[in-house]
Amino acid sequence: MKESKKTPKSDSLNRRAFVGNTTKTAVAGAALSALPIERFAHAAISPGDTIKIGLVGCGGRGTGAASQALSTGESVKLVAMADVFKDKLDERHALLKKQSEKQVDVPDENRFVGPDAYKKVIEQVDLVILTTPPGFRPYHFAEAIRQNKHVFMEKPVAVDGPGVRKVLEVAKEADKKGLKVGVGLQRHHQPGYIETIKRLKDGAIGDLVSMRAYWNGGGVWDPRATREQAKTELEYQLRNWYYYNWLCGDHITEQHIHNLDVINWLKDGFPVLARGMGGRQVRTDKKYGEIFDHHAVEYQYADGSWLFSQCRHIRGCWNSVSEHVQGATGHADIGAHQIFGKGGNWRYKKDRDEKSPYQIEHDDLFAAIRHNEPYNEAYYGAKSTLTSILGRMATYTGGEVTWEQALNSKVQLMPESITWDSKPPTGPDENGEYPIPVPGDKIWKRKIV
Ligand SMILES: NC(=O)c1ccc[n+]([C@@H]2O[C@H](COP(=O)([O-])OP(=O)(O)OC[C@H]3O[C@@H](n4cnc5c(N)ncnc54)[C@H](O)[C@@H]3O)[C@@H](O)[C@H]2O)c1
Repeated sequence: MKESKKTPKSDSLNRRAFVGNTTKTAVAGAALSALPIERFAHAAISPGDTIKIGLVGCGGRGTGAASQALSTGESVKLVAMADVFKDKLDERHALLKKQSEKQVDVPDENRFVGPDAYKKVIEQVDLVILTTPPGFRPYHFAEAIRQNKHVFMEKPVAVDGPGVRKVLEVAKEADKKGLKVGVGLQRHHQPGYIETIKRLKDGAIGDLVSMRAYWNGGGVWDPRATREQAKTELEYQLRNWYYYNWLCGDHITEQHIHNLDVINWLKDGFPVLARGMGGRQVRTDKKYGEIFDHHAVEYQYADGSWLFSQCRHIRGCWNSVSEHVQGATGHADIGAHQIFGKGGNWRYKKDRDEKSPYQIEHDDLFAAIRHNEPYNEAYYGAKSTLTSILGRMATYTGGEVTWEQALNSKVQLMPESITWDSKPPTGPDENGEYPIPVPGDKIWKRKIV
């Protein structure tokens, strides 16, 4: 499923020779102009070179991703960090420094705070890790590729149709420049998933008839800041980003994307339409912003097969985070890596020293950078993100929504940029309640699809 334009496998231009001496670079200019664009669009990195990385979004996943990037080899250094909030940056910098003393070298002047801080981090590094709330992703990704930098970005990669289109466009730019892009859909790097999907594609249970996917659980963190603690509405929403669609995209996008993406991978394609229902049944307090607490969606693929999907944030119910497929001659629990076929049952056996998929995804990305191999996960990252947005459009409207409608939607939840003076795109009424989508309502529909 890795879609990427082919780029040359080896690169004789060593990074130091290329960027180390500006005079030599200028003299070599005429010769360089004969080379394909990816040879001069970014500094080539050879296997032994130090790779300077930066972190944008110093939260839980950003810290994990930075740590995994540093674990790919001693010659990786964290040199710059950014967050909108100084407290988050300081806390995570201290933690990373403690974990990887020698590889973390982020002087004060390379610690940037505020909505524009990402640009300054990108300037300093060879690879940037983008782990802010997902609404920002398309714009941060675009800036990273504009500045000719390799990228690891977390899923989801957008929260709306325009954001997905932007990521798809920028992905093409990355390919033209020979830049490598990893997306945090780590199941693609998990040996048990890889082997199970391969066997299913090879026909272990015959033709695939129907699929199911779930992220049913008790929910995530409760709002982190009260109105009194936040100085402005913007700070309030940024601290509590999970509950606002312009930042998060709702939990169908933020979490359930993983399971939807597995089915897309299995199908080698993306749904053509979705129908769904959902709402706020239990998590109704105004502090939970504007997202639903449950979604149930049926997706149809181009071959007529159906995926039945559920995601729920309600405690005390049936929980499951899993993907399943029914075939003509058997069935499989994909997440448990188990196949029950006519020809016998199979279960993946994990090696005792198997690395976590979070580590493997970084090992794979850094190997591609060092060996200049094609690597761009942004295409399927964007399309699996759109699958989850399509599902949200179906549950919020209660209607049938096609892939093309979702992809071409003009409803832009996320502004292209924000400053501390920006007014968030959604706001509370006089009672502190946020507008909640009403399925079947024509006025709401225009704000959703
Ligand atoms: N692949 C996975 O399994 C996995 C797991 C967890 C999270 N994630 C993804 O990682 C991303 C981050 O999630 P998290 O759990 O780390 O959230 P988090 O709240 O812990 O961290 C996000 C950080 O980004 C900062 N931030 C917000 N806006 C910013 C901006 N414009 N510029 C710079 N910093 C900004 C916040 O202050 C916060 O420190 C999300 O997209 C999430 O879906 C993926």
